[in-house]
Amino acid sequence: MTAKHLSADQSAQRIGQSFGPQPWVLAFPEARALAGRIASRLALPLEAVSVHRFPDGERRVRLPAALPPEIALVQRLDDPDARLVALMLAAETARELGAHRIVLVAPYLCYMRQDRAFQPGEAVSQRIVGRFLARLCDALVTVDPHLHRTRRLEEAVPVPEAASVSAAPLLARHVAAARPGALLLAPDAEAAAWVRAGAEAAGLEWATARKERRGDREVEVALDDPARCRGRCVCLLDDVASTGATLAAAARAARAAGAAEVCAAVTHALFVGDAIGRLRAAGVTEIWSADTVPHPTNAVSVAAPLAAAVAGLLRLEDA
Ligand code: R5P
Repeated sequence: MTAKHLSADQSAQRIGQSFGPQPWVLAFPEARALAGRIASRLALPLEAVSVHRFPDGERRVRLPAALPPEIALVQRLDDPDARLVALMLAAETARELGAHRIVLVAPYLCYMRQDRAFQPGEAVSQRIVGRFLARLCDALVTVDPHLHRTRRLEEAVPVPEAASVSAAPLLARHVAAARPGALLLAPDAEAAAWVRAGAEAAGLEWATARKERRGDREVEVALDDPARCRGRCVCLLDDVASTGATLAAAARAARAAGAAEVCAAVTHALFVGDAIGRLRAAGVTEIWSADTVPHPTNAVSVAAPLAAAVAGLLRLEDA
C-alpha cells in the first residue's frame, strides 16, 4: 500500500460529504510526535488526549468534548501497564463522545512475547492483552509485532481489521547507506524471515544465528556460519531490544568470528536500564532504531508506512 497524501483542500472537501466529517488523529501526549507525523502526511487534524496523573498514581483522561465518527487513536504501549489503563479510559470515552470507528495505532504492541503457558499456571499475555485491545477498537495498526509462533496479527488481537507494517526494509536501507556491503545478521531463528526481507529490500547479504535464553539477561548466541563475518562490518538486525542481552551476545559472537565492525539496528528501541552500555561493552559501535519508541538511537521513521495503513483502514483512498 502506498501512502495517500491529501492536500489541505482535499482534506477539507471531506467535511460535509455523505460519509461524514473527516477523521481525526487523536494522540496521547507520549505518542504526539509520531502521531503528528502521521496526521501531517494524511492532512488530518491532530487532537490531543490529555492525561493527568494524580499523586496516588491514578490517571484522569480527557478528550475533546465531541468527536467525529472516525478516529485514529495513537498510543505508545512500551512501558505498558499505566498506558493500557489510560487507553481503556480514552477508548470507552471516545465511544460516548461520538466515535463509531476507532482505529488504534499502537506502534509497539506490548505483552506479545508470552504466547503460551511455558509453565503450568502462566498467564498467556498475548491472548489476554490481545482480547483486551480488540474490545477497545475496530481496527489496529502496529509495527513489527512480536508474533513468532502466531501466524496472523488478528489471531493475537482479534479485531475485524488489522494491519502490520515492517521497519525492516527502512532499517536495512539505512544500514546499506551507512555501511555499504554490511552483512545483516539475525541473532535468532525467529528473526531470520524478518532480516531476509530487510536484506532483499536493501540489496545486502544476510546470515543467521541460534539463540539460547537462560534468563532475562543471560543469553547465548552461536553463529550458523562464522566465516562469513570475518573482516567485514556485521549489522545485527532484530525486531526489539529490551535488556540488550540478545544483541550483546550476538555482537560478541560476531567479534569472535573476526568481524571488522559490529553495528545494530532494531525496530523497537526499548533499551531498558543499562542496555546501551551492555552493547557498547560488547563492541557495538553504532546503534540505529525506528521511531516506534522515542530514543536517541532513532534513525528512521515509520510514519509513512503507518500513515498508509491508517489511510487504508479509514478508507481515505475512497475520499
Ligand atoms: C526475541 O525473540 C526478540 O526478537 C528479541 O531478540 C528479544 O526480545 C530481545 O530482548 P533482550 O534485549 O532483552 O535480549
